[in-house]
Amino acid sequence: MKGIILAGGNGTRLSPLTRVTSKQLLPIYDQPMIYYPLHTLLQAGITEILIITAPDHAGDFLNFLGSGRDFKAKFTYEIQDKPMGLAQGLSIAETFVGDDSCTMILGDNIFEYNFTKDVQQFSAGAKIFVKPVSDPERFGVVVMNEHNQVINIEEKPTKPKSNLAQTGIYIYDQQVFDLIRALQPSARHELEITDLNNLYLAQGTLSAQLITGEWIDTGTFESLFKAAQFRRQQVRKS
Ligand code: TTP
Repeated sequence: MKGIILAGGNGTRLSPLTRVTSKQLLPIYDQPMIYYPLHTLLQAGITEILIITAPDHAGDFLNFLGSGRDFKAKFTYEIQDKPMGLAQGLSIAETFVGDDSCTMILGDNIFEYNFTKDVQQFSAGAKIFVKPVSDPERFGVVVMNEHNQVINIEEKPTKPKSNLAQTGIYIYDQQVFDLIRALQPSARHELEITDLNNLYLAQGTLSAQLITGEWIDTGTFESLFKAAQFRRQQVRKS
């Protein structure tokens, strides 16, 4: 299993902080944001990790994280020239992933859940991870049946059909890159991860796991603050 951290994007909602550095290098209490998704992958036993960044500040990621040796891992770096969507970002990983499967995590997502079992047990298709939220209209909204099967995913619907958000971590088999090639850009000119997951859904090979513990998408000032508070509590408990 290969790992990918998608750490590009514009970070416009965190401007002006993101005018001086990349969003994923901003501090969350005592650690730069990217440490959290990195730790999530390492904890799941994934040690070959590709870090995809925007061109601006790309050197800072390399200077900061290095070869991966300090983390007992191996890091590779790629640039996404323009933020053309999560699925477009993932497409950059094709050579790196090769014949393997991959776990992609967003560089601004913090998880308390341990993904080890999900990674170990994954064999084929795609797996997404969902969590109930109070503001589902901000996310990809997932409808599931009583057998935990996905019925439908809708990106940022005005009238959400459930309170289950699709979180920022995904596991895919090798066919993911062929499926991305079949995608068309959305109305906001991006290759959407939800469209990709819907292709797996149509094939009947998409599964979903409900996660426990805290999950924070740190893309706004409020959630950045909440993440720092969460981390502070964890540090004080330990
Ligand atoms: P978003 O938070 O959706 O986008 P953003 O980071 O550009 O922020 P804003 O909406 O405030 O402008 O991105 C989620 C994560 O995915 C984040 O870590 C950035 C990354 N990303 C890419 O690497 N490439 C992309 O094309 C996009 C859209 C996001």
